[in-house]
Amino acid sequence: MHFKKKILVTGGAGFIGSHLVRHFVNKYPDYLIINFDKLTYAGNLENLSDIETALNYKFFKGDIVEKNDILEAFQKYEFTDVIHLAAESHVDRSIEGPMDFVMTNVVGTVNLLQICKEKWQGNNHVFHHVSTDEVFGSLNEEGFFLETTAYDPRSPYSASKASSDHFVRAFYHTYGFPIKISNCSNNYGSHHFPEKLIPLMINNILNHKPLPVYGNGSNIRDWLWVVDHVSAIDAIFHDGHIGSSYNVGGLNEWTNIDLVKYLCEVMDRELGRPLGTSEKLIVFVEDRKGHDHRYAIDASKLVNDLGWKPSVTFEEGLALTVKWYLENQSWIEKVTSGAYQSYYEKMYNTK
Ligand code: NAD
Ligand code: TYD
Repeated sequence: MHFKKKILVTGGAGFIGSHLVRHFVNKYPDYLIINFDKLTYAGNLENLSDIETALNYKFFKGDIVEKNDILEAFQKYEFTDVIHLAAESHVDRSIEGPMDFVMTNVVGTVNLLQICKEKWQGNNHVFHHVSTDEVFGSLNEEGFFLETTAYDPRSPYSASKASSDHFVRAFYHTYGFPIKISNCSNNYGSHHFPEKLIPLMINNILNHKPLPVYGNGSNIRDWLWVVDHVSAIDAIFHDGHIGSSYNVGGLNEWTNIDLVKYLCEVMDRELGRPLGTSEKLIVFVEDRKGHDHRYAIDASKLVNDLGWKPSVTFEEGLALTVKWYLENQSWIEKVTSGAYQSYYEKMYNTK
């Protein structure tokens, strides 16, 4: 079968990657989507069980740190484009051990860039690098991150992502390599690994466990439904300018404490518990080291140039998310068994 494009999606078995793979496989039957993933603790092929037999979907188990893995995938599929999501993605883990972040996020990204630069000929290719707003650092109460905001990463995670962004941009400026970058705010939605704030709280509420809020809970994040991040990547991948970066965010800022309280309310209602039951589980714990105060995105370039807008309000997106976790408790039971238990003890029992 002839495919119009053959897109290598790295990290396609992770949280955002699995939503992106599903969207592209279903929406573009004339594209071949190759999910290239190492299957770390964060990668889970069950996230894609509904599309695994689709004719335009392939899975390739590989590590972007290993050049030979990427070369083998190229030999097998001759991919024409890349949407690069594979990364170590959790700030708390990067504080405990930065080296995995340097290897996958920096070395892995440069490996991919180099191989694509060597193999691709002609103009009809795109390397879309998926990044984060955390590269811009931390805001006070005022202002927003723009595409032109100077980079000021502060955690080992954001430093590794900033470094990868710089390499991606350097390949454009130095070699004219066809890149696009998107920098998105915090995502939430189904299939989100319960090390991150929202799924961790959902899991703990379900199990009547303490809800650990770092510091005094006044840190602010700008939350976007993962499906809306995917539609932004689709728009940028197809219609964004080569060499450009685009900020993605939903003008949806919440302090952590307000968000956790709101989530408690939604969960109490869904679980038929008296209102106020889950909120009693909140505990303020030792703050994260170097905790960034506020992230907030100005996405006007994406909205004005490419006509993107979020499809749901936060209230709607969170309701859908909670519903998914309640209907898929076996998913969360599986991913929280084994290694997750020792992770949780190490991270939280000392706080
Ligand atoms: P995730 O941790 O859920 O998934 C990462 C995926 O990458 C996993 O499937 C994992 O197995 C795979 N992977 C890790 N190391 C690999 C390697 N060396 N080779 C091949 N595969 C490897 O992450 P996510 O939350 O889905 O984030 C995806 C991307 O989006 C990341 O680049 C992240 O920086 C970026 N991002 C995330 C958010 C967010 O809120 N989650 C926001 C903005 C940007
Ligand atoms: P997280 O989901 O780890 O995303 P990021 O650090 O990339 O923004 O954390 C979101 C916010 O929630 C951040 O300010 C840290 C805070 N947080 C807690 O208060 N308790 C927790 O158990 C976790 C995981 C995060």
